Amino acid sequence: MKLSWFKKGTIYQIYPRSFNDSNSDGIGDLRGIIEKLDYLQKLNVDILWLSPIFSSPNDDNGYDISNYCAIMPEFGTMQDFDELLHKTHERGMRLVLDLVANHCSDEHEWFKEAKKSKDNAYRDYFHWSAPAKDGGPPNNWKSFFGGSAWEYDKDSGEYYLHLFTKKQPDLNWKNQKVREEIYQAMRFWLDKGVDGFRMDVIPLISKREGYPDAPNEGFRKIIEDVYANGPHLHEYLREMNREVIRHYDAFSLAEGVGINPTNAGLYVDHDRRELDMLYHFDILECTIVNGKFEEVSPFDLVTMKKIFKKWRDAVHEKGWLANAMGNHDFSRMVSRFGNDKEYWAASAKMLFIMQATQNGTLNIYQGDEIGMTNIVLNEISEVKDVQSLNFYNENLATQRFSKDLALEMINKEGRDNARTPMQWSDELNAGFSEHDPWLKINPNYENINVATQNNDPNSILNFYRNVLAIRKKMEVFVYGDFEEVAFDHPELYIYKKTLGSDKIIVLLNFSSNPQKFITNFQLPTNAVIINNYEDIVITEDKIHLKPYQGCVVRLE
Ligand code: GLC
Ligand code: CA
Repeated sequence: MKLSWFKKGTIYQIYPRSFNDSNSDGIGDLRGIIEKLDYLQKLNVDILWLSPIFSSPNDDNGYDISNYCAIMPEFGTMQDFDELLHKTHERGMRLVLDLVANHCSDEHEWFKEAKKSKDNAYRDYFHWSAPAKDGGPPNNWKSFFGGSAWEYDKDSGEYYLHLFTKKQPDLNWKNQKVREEIYQAMRFWLDKGVDGFRMDVIPLISKREGYPDAPNEGFRKIIEDVYANGPHLHEYLREMNREVIRHYDAFSLAEGVGINPTNAGLYVDHDRRELDMLYHFDILECTIVNGKFEEVSPFDLVTMKKIFKKWRDAVHEKGWLANAMGNHDFSRMVSRFGNDKEYWAASAKMLFIMQATQNGTLNIYQGDEIGMTNIVLNEISEVKDVQSLNFYNENLATQRFSKDLALEMINKEGRDNARTPMQWSDELNAGFSEHDPWLKINPNYENINVATQNNDPNSILNFYRNVLAIRKKMEVFVYGDFEEVAFDHPELYIYKKTLGSDKIIVLLNFSSNPQKFITNFQLPTNAVIINNYEDIVITEDKIHLKPYQGCVVRLE
């Protein structure tokens, strides 16, 4: 299989609101990103993905778009964008945008028009339905962010569908005009030179005919069977590819909500010409049972190995995955999968070795390269994320959990964990802004920040730079065949990877205990390519790994 630029390249996700504030209003912006392009280039990432930068009332921080072809004024101007794109390309990097096409904002002109009357030309851009017999919502669908997925519109006496907040009405993709509007917007950005799109909740765009009630199942199952994978979905994706993407040197990356290993091929198998890759939720949600907050299960390494394996097998040779351990929707990777206390640096580095040696396009989320951790928000007034706030408010009404417990749950899994401002230095507001930032800064910025790590050869940041430089040269990291070693070991993750004559072994200790591992093969100590400790001890037939030690050793 040909390894194109987006398969080899490393994606770095920027959450613009929290990245860097250039004009001291407490909100990150496009010029702030321009200021950091040299930093990103030096990190050795290749593709920048910006979370939405379009006009938006920010009910869901830009995932509620009110104009697909305009820049959110808080983030800057179209000129700023053009400059950002140009300067990104000048540095040999690519830029991809976040296409939120399942829904728009209720403040989009389309929706404002649609609300005017039942016979308005834009009415059919959205999903409307008459009330149920009792006057309530047309069916039992729940929003991803709590409550019914239907909102009543008094003026017309009908409900409209919103799978997310009520300010995010779902677009009706059955209407060909809607599809053409989205394609036009895509062309607008691609014609400027943008290199592709991350496609927000794209599996949800085709709704089931007649909006059938969801069965009494867990939310994940409902997503797969009722909200995602609708009857016309693949027809739309093929059309989008044929009408738009295929005409550019650009890629599409699906947010894989509702996609499982069985149906993944329908989205990303090359010969279907739909989407170029997807990131699934199994790793991201491997400590979450059914939707956020309510049920959590402790992290388990063997479960994670199985997930990686299952997905590898599902797409191997036919399709492609992006591989993400965190993003703006989940708590921080080192806090979830590592040890953000005693072994903070070692575990952050070890996790990155694992991520960088899994197959697929590597996807880094801003701040993970310096080991940013979860934050503790002490008051509900400090919580900004609409998902967390809806959860809290619903709890106030139902009293299912106490206020304290609800806040504790928000602190554990809430999305603000990943959205706290980037920690650039130990100066005022972590060097993010001269103004009070829109979301609290993690007080650990005094120790965890870019400036300190930049000068420390042993820092997480320099480790990331180094691993990424090595990965660029070694396709076996990206695409090698996998051979598991000691698959059932609960604390060690060991695997070999082979591509042609290149062979490596990856050794990872996922625990705070030293581990001994007996091998039946020789390990050349002079061929250690990556190691998060200074040495690795090998005695006769045993490998000794220190707490959270991770290494990559060349075998042949
Ligand atoms: C995706 C985004 C998330 C957003 C949601 C609705 O899951 O990643 O941030 O809230 O879609 O657009
Ligand atoms: Ca700003």
